[in-house]
Amino acid sequence: MQSADGRAIILFSGGDAPGMNALLRGIVRLGLNRHHIPVLGVKDGYAGLVRTCRRVFMGHADAQTVSDEIGLHKGSEGLRRTNQEMVWMDHASVSGILTKGGIVLGTSRCMEIRDPDVRRQVIDLLDDLDVATMFVCGGDGSCAAAACLALESSIQIVCVPATIDNDLPMTDTCIGVDTAINTVAWAIDHFNDTAGAHHRIMVLETMGRRCGYLARLSALASGAEIVVTPERGPLGRTKMQALAQRIETSLLRGRRHAIVLVAEGVRTEPASSQCPAITLTRSLQDYFHSRGGRFSGLEIRSNVLGHLQRGGRPTAADRILAAQFAEAAWRAVVARSGKSGVLACRNGRISIRNFSESFDGQIEDRSQDVYFLQKALSKC
Ligand code: F6P
Repeated sequence: MQSADGRAIILFSGGDAPGMNALLRGIVRLGLNRHHIPVLGVKDGYAGLVRTCRRVFMGHADAQTVSDEIGLHKGSEGLRRTNQEMVWMDHASVSGILTKGGIVLGTSRCMEIRDPDVRRQVIDLLDDLDVATMFVCGGDGSCAAAACLALESSIQIVCVPATIDNDLPMTDTCIGVDTAINTVAWAIDHFNDTAGAHHRIMVLETMGRRCGYLARLSALASGAEIVVTPERGPLGRTKMQALAQRIETSLLRGRRHAIVLVAEGVRTEPASSQCPAITLTRSLQDYFHSRGGRFSGLEIRSNVLGHLQRGGRPTAADRILAAQFAEAAWRAVVARSGKSGVLACRNGRISIRNFSESFDGQIEDRSQDVYFLQKALSKC
């Protein structure tokens, strides 16, 4: 069965975020059970659409063949077929995925979708397949591409924010943020054990692109002593020395270890190809080791937490958020306003916002509030 107005599709784009599967389940189940509209899942985000366009362009298939293929191999069978990019999602294909990290449909960072000619081909394909509604789940790059597609076509596109970076200004939070904070806090707890046992300073680099939210909130949750984020400006010599002095003061007070978090987006001055955690580690080592005295043997070690932060079972909060986003996404579609945009959760309420709305400054403010709280709590 299809929507009277055309088909609905869903794709996931950009970095995976825990809770994406919960959203897929929510969109598919609400589609089938509440709105009686089945949903086509696209594999590997925009890349799945671009690959299908290429097949059509190369003459390996036409829209009818693609449509037949989709009709023939549905659900889990379609998901298993390596050369089939779109799959009718049924109940069985989303069963058991609620608690899983990653995304069963796959995701990708697809640069080709930035090209207007490629987007034209994608739109033609979607028109041939009678697609009227598209759900896109991802971060800012995914929303930017969705905004272009919405502008250039008559397809209604509803974006659902999902990124561990929490760097989308229109929404207080995104799918994946809560889980990532829990994961980073869990990792810090482990590093803290070793830091305490060996009396070390551990410098840990967190993800977040140009945003320090993940680092700051994880520090709040774990008690990390020092956090360096891009919002507080570049990390130069003077700042690194001030951080060393802060650590020294706490050592003089009797503290014997510390956790320092550095968000990956921090710029170092002078610019360096090294990651900021390593630059800071070297600077701290220089400070303590070159001066002789009481702390000249202090061990200072760095670790990059990396993709560990993106995986894992979504927390209950992320699963619930995903269910609520799924409901709001369908609400936007069945309202029949045809309005495209991005879902935003503000003060606990979810609504659809225009892609073009400006939200300048809101991320800065959010980070600033947490900055003072975390700093006050970590002084010891
Ligand atoms: O946007 C999520 C994120 O994990 C960022 O924090 C990080 O900078 C980036 O993706 C890493 O991307 P990739 O996995 O493609 O290297």
